[in-house]
Amino acid sequence: MLITLEGIEGSGKTTQIQYMAEYFRAKGHDCALTKEPGGTGIGEKIRSILLNPGNHAMDPLAELLLYAADRAQHINEMIIPTLKAGKIVICDRFHDSTIVYQGFARGLDMRLIRQLNSLVMDDLSPDMTFLLDLPPELGLKRAWKQIQNGSRDESETRFENEKLQFHEKVRNGYLAIARQEPVRFVVVDASKDAEQVRAEILERLTVLVK
Ligand code: TMP
Repeated sequence: MLITLEGIEGSGKTTQIQYMAEYFRAKGHDCALTKEPGGTGIGEKIRSILLNPGNHAMDPLAELLLYAADRAQHINEMIIPTLKAGKIVICDRFHDSTIVYQGFARGLDMRLIRQLNSLVMDDLSPDMTFLLDLPPELGLKRAWKQIQNGSRDESETRFENEKLQFHEKVRNGYLAIARQEPVRFVVVDASKDAEQVRAEILERLTVLVK
């Protein structure tokens, strides 16, 4: 089973993914936590290029292709073998991030993005996707606070540096795709505190995995 988490910067995915793992492990299920970009050794290198705030000149198409390269490596090296071994895979960001960041926010051709996604994903699709939704003003405030107190890496702030308008497009893009796939997406109000968000997520996980 593949479960993904999505959301803007500062939506709390990193905290919630840990709670999800605790839930599954307590129930006796083996689960693996991973992320995009950077779920493999090669992916880590791609991640450092993608998120380096010094890379102002990155071409949007080059950006899209780097995310696709990271995903191809991740799926083939890590996700598929882990699923085949019978584990639950929980992934912090997946193909929906490309649809909203490179598609809705950067404005790249949505057909091209979907073609690239289906090329690298083949018939793989998340069983459930949690969208941690909150206003970008609040998410960015949280993200910058974490950068300032050192709990978030300041060498990975290329997207945090984008204008508020960019993050609004990301949020609206997420809400639009969640409406298109209401069975796969669970939209959670992430402006609430972490404990409340955790309770809402676990309620849905209970239905999915006993
Ligand atoms: P994060 O690991 O801290 O969430 O940072 C990853 C950043 O990469 C985040 O700003 C969203 C962005 N991103 C894309 O633009 N497209 C993608 O396909 C993925 C997976 C992430």
